[in-house]
Amino acid sequence: MAAFDPESEIPRHIAIIMDGNGRWAKERDLPRREGHRAGAESVEECLKSCGDLGIEYLTLYAFSSENWKRPEQEVNALMGLLAHFLKEKTPTLIKANVRLQVIGQIEKLPGSSRRQLEKSIRKTADNDGLTLVVALSYGSREEIVDATRELMRKSAEGEMSADNLDNETFSNHLYTRGMPDPDLLIRTSGEFRISNFLLWQISYAEIYITETFWPDFRREHLETAIGEYQKRHRRFGGL
Ligand code: IPE
Ligand code: IPE
Ligand code: MG
Repeated sequence: MAAFDPESEIPRHIAIIMDGNGRWAKERDLPRREGHRAGAESVEECLKSCGDLGIEYLTLYAFSSENWKRPEQEVNALMGLLAHFLKEKTPTLIKANVRLQVIGQIEKLPGSSRRQLEKSIRKTADNDGLTLVVALSYGSREEIVDATRELMRKSAEGEMSADNLDNETFSNHLYTRGMPDPDLLIRTSGEFRISNFLLWQISYAEIYITETFWPDFRREHLETAIGEYQKRHRRFGGL
């Protein structure tokens, strides 16, 4: 296992697929929502660790566009937890100089969660430490389709021409516009898939998968992932 070296290069942007809350709860004979509640504590610790380590961007996959398919009771528990977490932790975010941003179709969230989210975003907007990007009701295919729709509209209205479309212009129409691409993508709970997360943006991300369930993910696990990243040789197609 690679030891984390504080002196060597750290990823600028870490993205995490926080998976395994349900299995963590099941192992303990607890309801799934207890797994999500415990997962919120991991979020708090992870935020603190990333702030301490000087990571610039942390993107957390909290709720996918496919997660709406889950039973209503679980969706409600997750939405309630989100609003509660933001309400309780926004003063901590402000104090820790964290700027909150969101990616995803947040118009689909229940009004109370959306209003709390918008409030927390507003209150942390002037912070210039870690940027915490929460992916909520997020699907990468939806994001790509939304970007394409906007580009087609601009083209139809003569605001831009199809011949001028390039990677940069396309990137600037994604929800992640203005953010650097993730350098390191972590998925917990041992699943080897992307589940509709940042398909465009992770083109050259280093991928790290751990068996650890998200509610058990602590600072040491994050440091192990960064240690593994530091050992990789990123070539971006070159030599
Ligand atoms: C991740 O944990 C949290 C969300 C997807 C919202 P899961 O709820 O997917 O947990 P498992 O995969 O069932 O263990
Ligand atoms: C991905 O986890 C989404 C989040 C972590 C929010 P899922 O548990 O929804 O993904 P699948 O269903 O295992 O692919
Ligand atoms: Mg899962």
